[in-house]
Amino acid sequence: MEIKKAVIPVAGLGTRFLPVTKSMPKEMLPIIDKPVIHYVVEEAIASGIDDIIFITGRSKRSIEDYFDDSPELEYHLKQKNQHNLLKIVQDISSMVDLHYIRQREPKGLGDAILTAQKHISDEPFAVLLGDDIIVNKTPCTKQLIDNFYKYGRSTIAVEEVPVEKIGSYGIIKGTPLDDSLYVLEDIVEKPRPEDAPSNIGAIGRYVFTPEILDCIKETVIGVGNEIQLTDGIRLLNSKQKIYAYRFTGKRYDTGDKTEYVKAIIDFALNNEDMKEYIEEYLEGMNLRT
Ligand code: UTP
Repeated sequence: MEIKKAVIPVAGLGTRFLPVTKSMPKEMLPIIDKPVIHYVVEEAIASGIDDIIFITGRSKRSIEDYFDDSPELEYHLKQKNQHNLLKIVQDISSMVDLHYIRQREPKGLGDAILTAQKHISDEPFAVLLGDDIIVNKTPCTKQLIDNFYKYGRSTIAVEEVPVEKIGSYGIIKGTPLDDSLYVLEDIVEKPRPEDAPSNIGAIGRYVFTPEILDCIKETVIGVGNEIQLTDGIRLLNSKQKIYAYRFTGKRYDTGDKTEYVKAIIDFALNNEDMKEYIEEYLEGMNLRT
C-alpha cells in the first residue's frame, strides 16, 4: 500500500525556546527567510506525501496562516509588479493538501499522533516532527518509505547521539541487519546514560503501520507525565516486527537553541547570495581568537 499521508505534530509547548514560544510556535522560527515547518513540509512532499495532517494547539495559528492564501499581500505584490515574490507566496499556499486537527492539551507526542486516527483510518502513514530539519538529496522520510515498501513494516529513523544527550531521546536496542538497518528489539524513553541499551536514538521521522494507533491507545501515561510514542512503539514491537533505519543526511533539532543557530549558519553558507559575506564574517571571528 502506498504511503500518501503524513502526520506533523506541532502542538508542543516549545519550553526550550521560551520566552519566544510564549506567543509564537517554534516551528515558525525562521531559517533565514523560511520557517522551519516549511522545510519539513517540503521533505514530506519530496517523499511522495500528498495529504498532510498538522496536529496543532494553542498559539499555533500562524502555521495555518502561513500555508493559507494571503489575498491582500498578493494584491499588493501584483500592484507593485513584484512577480517573483508573488510566485513565492502563491506557491506556499498551493503546496499540498493540508488538514488541521487540534490536540486539546499537549499530553505528549503519542497523544498528538492519536488525534489523527480518524483521518488515517487503516493506512500506513509517515510522521515528521515539526522541529527537525533533515538535509539530504534523498529525503529522510523517503528513505524510511523505501524501507517500508521493501519489508512492509514500520520503520523509525535513528542516529547516534552523544552521551550527554541520551537522556533526551528514545534509545533503541537492535539487531543489525546491515550498516544502516536494525531489527528493533526494544526502545526506552529518555534513559539515564548508564541504563541506556545503546547510544542510538530515535529522531523525528517515522513510518508506521496503522496498528500503531491502537497501540498508543492502550498505553498509559509514561515518562514526563505524557502519553509517549515510545511506549506505543514498544507495544507494536511485541506484535509486529519494526525496523530502525540509520538514515543518511544532516539533522538539525531546531527546537534546541544551539542546533537552531547551527542550522542558520549552515543554510547561510549554502546560500549563493550570502555565502561569501558569511564566510568572511566567520573568518574574521577566527582572526580575533
Ligand atoms: P518536543 O518534546 O521536542 O516538543 O516534541 P516540545 O514539548 O514542544 O518542546 P520542549 O521540549 O518543551 O522545548 C517533539 C514534537 O512533538 C510535538 C512538538 O510540537 C514537536 O514537534 N508535540 C509534543 C505535540 O504535538 N504534542 C505534545 O503534546 C508534545
